[in-house]
Amino acid sequence: MRGAIHMIVTTRLSSSLRPILLDFVSICSPPRNFSIPRRLICAAATKANGGGGGRSGSIVAPPLLTQDEDFQKIDVNPPKGTRDFPPEDMRLRNWLFNHFKEVSRLFGYEEVDFPVLETEALFLRKAGEEIRDQLYCFEDRGNRRVALRPELTPSLARLVIQKGKSVSLPLKWFAVGQCWRYERMTRGRRREHYQWNMDIIGVPQVTAEAELISSIVTFFKRIGITASDVGFKVSSRKVLQELLTKYGVTEDMFGRVCIIIDKIEKIPIDEIKKELGFTGISEDAIEQLLQVLSVKSLDDLEDILGGAGEAIADLKQLFSLAEKFGYSEWIQFDASVVRGLAYYTGIVFEGFDRKGKLRAICGGGRYDRLLSTYGGDDIPACGFGFGDAVIVELLKEKDLLPELGQEVENIVCALDKDLQGAAATVATALRDKGQTVDLVLESKPLKWVFKRAARVNARRLVLVGKTEWEDGSVSVKVLSSGEQFQVKLSDLE
Ligand code: HAM
Repeated sequence: MRGAIHMIVTTRLSSSLRPILLDFVSICSPPRNFSIPRRLICAAATKANGGGGGRSGSIVAPPLLTQDEDFQKIDVNPPKGTRDFPPEDMRLRNWLFNHFKEVSRLFGYEEVDFPVLETEALFLRKAGEEIRDQLYCFEDRGNRRVALRPELTPSLARLVIQKGKSVSLPLKWFAVGQCWRYERMTRGRRREHYQWNMDIIGVPQVTAEAELISSIVTFFKRIGITASDVGFKVSSRKVLQELLTKYGVTEDMFGRVCIIIDKIEKIPIDEIKKELGFTGISEDAIEQLLQVLSVKSLDDLEDILGGAGEAIADLKQLFSLAEKFGYSEWIQFDASVVRGLAYYTGIVFEGFDRKGKLRAICGGGRYDRLLSTYGGDDIPACGFGFGDAVIVELLKEKDLLPELGQEVENIVCALDKDLQGAAATVATALRDKGQTVDLVLESKPLKWVFKRAARVNARRLVLVGKTEWEDGSVSVKVLSSGEQFQVKLSDLE
């Protein structure tokens, strides 16, 4: 038996799998009814046959520890580009997410969520977007191609198609979820980040984009960011579309052209021209395109495009609504904003820091034709994504990070080992009344308890002593004033 397995392993397996199974074979001194776990045989066979195969899965099982390896010294850091959230970081994260959620609710949006793991097909699109090359994708044990979501919009589109006519439009949905992109790490860009999204499904008018920007402005104001710190660059993909239609660029090519243009500040202009040339656009068109992209005022744009097109009309309406919503000073027209995702069709916008030190803070736009790319009926839609990383960098720069300590209302402590149970009863009574309680679970000197109370910012110390407890009472010390009193447990609020 052992010899036969050895032969399979040495003659038929790929070099990456061989050491794993050889290890396995050599450490086993097989008992009489020994058999190789099925998952390993499947893995070996399918790997040797070049993948594919049945429902048992072609994934190689993780390597086994050898008999001598009782423990394994692990790297205590999380994988590159990912984060742990110890309590101090979790407090900041919760603070930020609470603002995201409260603003969304203030605007009447409902919260939704989707799985972090989706089918890979959901993220495969025609044009050469960066996001596709950054996809964390793999085959699961059932031979299905899956991916960790790099953004939330495709999942939202999937859910809207799935719900079909059972939901009444417009939908106003928000989500806060983790996204994965195999990014080159820079300040504010990570391999794992959280995104706050707000999307409106079913409103074709610019009023939708105008309200979305208003919600982001509301968020900024709440956390102390002003219009002199941050602005929004706004344009419309229709600007380029109107221009390129004149030069015979088909709608099919349009998404690809936008993605090349989005790289303008990232790669040399000659490269951009070369890439645009590969799409079949004439040199004339490229020159005119690059000229339009440098336009920073709507009047100048109107001179170039003429006033009749939808692009100008949409942008004018957006600026007029910005005035009504009260955020005019936050937004500016900038034709160079096209966004790096292929699916946008109309207004696009990006939040930027005015000092120009950081990457985009947030971004969004209209994507009226995304649903049909998944086989659904198109519904007008727009939304934005707002990451959790750049904003924290900005808050640090501005010295606006909140000081968030742990907060517990009461520390309850037994003064005697035998009163541990009584202290538990006191803690339960307080928690039943909605009070937060840190119960001291071991017998500790009072000095220790006071130190802990200071560390967790406790408001009160509730001490359970023998004499008071016999009378159904406890001692309470209000830590801010030093006031101390005795109170019956039933009267303790
Ligand atoms: P996006 O521009 O790719 O758009 O991402 C939106 C925001 O997510 C960025 O502005 C940034 O704040 C954050 N972000 C993206 N990648 C990273 C990263 N690697 N590390 C840290 N933060 C990051 C979208 O994802 C669209 N789906 C947004 C949208 C929603 N459009 C319509 N609805």
